[in-house]
Amino acid sequence: MVWGLSGLSGSSARGRAGGLDFLPVVTPSGTPSSLSPKRVLVTGGAGFIGSHLTRRLLDEGHDVLVVDNFYSSTRRNLLKVMEHPNFELMRHDVTFPLYVEVDEIYHLACPASPIFYQRDPVQTTKTCVHGSINMLGLAKRTGAKILLASTSEVYGDPEVHPQEESYWGNVNPIGIRSCYDEGKRAAETLFFDYYRQHQLQIKVARIFNTYGPRMLPDDGRVVSNFIVQALRGEPLTVFGNGEQTRSFCYVDDLVGGLVSLMGTPDEVTGPINLGNPGEFTMIELATKVLELVGSGSELKYLPLPDDDPVRRRPDIGRARELLEWSPTISLEEGLARTIAYFRDLVA
Ligand SMILES: NC(=O)c1ccc[n+]([C@@H]2O[C@H](COP(=O)([O-])OP(=O)(O)OC[C@H]3O[C@@H](n4cnc5c(N)ncnc54)[C@H](O)[C@@H]3O)[C@@H](O)[C@H]2O)c1
Repeated sequence: MVWGLSGLSGSSARGRAGGLDFLPVVTPSGTPSSLSPKRVLVTGGAGFIGSHLTRRLLDEGHDVLVVDNFYSSTRRNLLKVMEHPNFELMRHDVTFPLYVEVDEIYHLACPASPIFYQRDPVQTTKTCVHGSINMLGLAKRTGAKILLASTSEVYGDPEVHPQEESYWGNVNPIGIRSCYDEGKRAAETLFFDYYRQHQLQIKVARIFNTYGPRMLPDDGRVVSNFIVQALRGEPLTVFGNGEQTRSFCYVDDLVGGLVSLMGTPDEVTGPINLGNPGEFTMIELATKVLELVGSGSELKYLPLPDDDPVRRRPDIGRARELLEWSPTISLEEGLARTIAYFRDLVA
């Protein structure tokens, strides 16, 4: 595998190592992939979504370099791919420049749960802004295509429902969530400025709440919180009156959307919403979790944190049209798979 120093390596360094070019690429379903193997960088690849994306890219026959500083993840998420011959892991903070040769960059590095992104808000903004500048610089040097994992948080507490990509959002610039929300908005701005100014091939995905195995049990996200509390027989903590809504996308669906977006023609830049348009109140979610776990836990109500959005639901018309993508895994099915994962972990 060649991850040569960009700028120092010539076109020969871009060639494939180890004869991988001659191996047929076979997808998990067993059908040969039409994609040719690429050197793919996944920043934040040790995290929840990144680890699933990494597995998928390896299954498609690509070489995958994961870059992560383990700020909100552990190596455990990558245990199953660690010995894969096309996999490489580098501990690196994206707020510092990176020099490698790559064809595609999935830029996911950024803590995603409030507990983590509010722990060191200045570092969160740095990760969003400096991290994006560094990865865009890398894309510029190498000519790589680059995808940003942006977020529905760019819509803030939305006044438009469901949220379409054309909506500019309602974000508090000075609140406790701003380091993340405004950080991602600035990252989107940088992506589009590099696109206009330097003709980079960019893709911007606005990801809505995603859940599944390998979320951390204690990072405060609602799905993992409810499941772990139900499994331990503890009360489920509901913030506010529990009538606020969210849409929940199972991670395999989301990863399929990211890969499809990366594969679109150059003129498709996004932003494109990726999420499941099913909309549930927190109480509905808690009830489903209790049913599926078979738990008699009670609900415990706590005050709503500052700037917590009241409603969230993606309009995925653009994703349907441009990516021919829509989620296929129901909330019940996705929750059952996630509960199975946490049952093992908690045990
Ligand atoms: N999970 C969701 O519901 C959701 C929703 C919207 C957007 N997103 C975005 O998707 C991406 C992945 O989210 P996730 O849920 O997997 O979160 P996660 O916290 O599990 O993963 C983020 C990864 O980035 C790494 N990281 C953080 N700062 C870094 C830095 N400075 N340098 C290198 N690595 C760094 C973390 O260690 C972690 O492995 C994030 O960019 C997030 O903003 C996620």
